[in-house]
Amino acid sequence: MYAGLSQGTLRWSMPPYNRQRIERWTSNIENAIVLVALDNNRIVGHLQISIGTSPPFRATGDLFIYLHKDYQDYQNLGLGAALMSGGIRAARDRHLHRVELTVVADNRRAVHLYEKVGFRREGVKRENYLGEDGKYHDEIIMGILL
Ligand SMILES: CC(C)(COP(=O)(O)OP(=O)(O)OC[C@H]1O[C@@H](n2cnc3c(N)ncnc32)[C@H](O)[C@@H]1OP(=O)(O)O)[C@@H](O)C(=O)NCCC(=O)NCCS
Repeated sequence: MYAGLSQGTLRWSMPPYNRQRIERWTSNIENAIVLVALDNNRIVGHLQISIGTSPPFRATGDLFIYLHKDYQDYQNLGLGAALMSGGIRAARDRHLHRVELTVVADNRRAVHLYEKVGFRREGVKRENYLGEDGKYHDEIIMGILL
């Protein structure tokens, strides 16, 4: 899925999605919540919550989510909302206390979705993300207490 992400999908994300990076994510599954969206046998969406391992952060998670858009547009159909709700439910089941994420402020659809499922804006990293447009963009730190 990551090998085929479109430029539009990657606009506000953090490439490269090379094999090494994907293997790093998927090799630590016991410390993560992983949800995938399938269309037949094809993965078209991925949500991951990486769970803290050091004692003070053992009940916290870091979330990211991507939906595919190339062979078919899976974005803006409610799939993100379904994955987010599933991820939050799974985090509660794992007794996490808190989940956080960072999103580029201009990624308005993502910010809207995160607020809709209960994440709150907690802070701004001013001009932290250098976009393809050559400009620095704010990032928003968002979190939810479970
Ligand atoms: C961000 C992403 C996960 C959202 O998932 P999705 O399935 O597209 O979102 P949904 O269809 O569940 O919900 C989208 C919501 O945003 C709203 N929306 C769409 N475009 C919007 C915009 N430009 N500004 C504000 N809201 C917008 C929709 O109306 C909908 O809200 P509603 O349910 O209240 O009507 C998905 O689009 C994606 O993977 N994008 C590319 C990768 C990415 O940016 N990942 C996040 C990195 S932090």
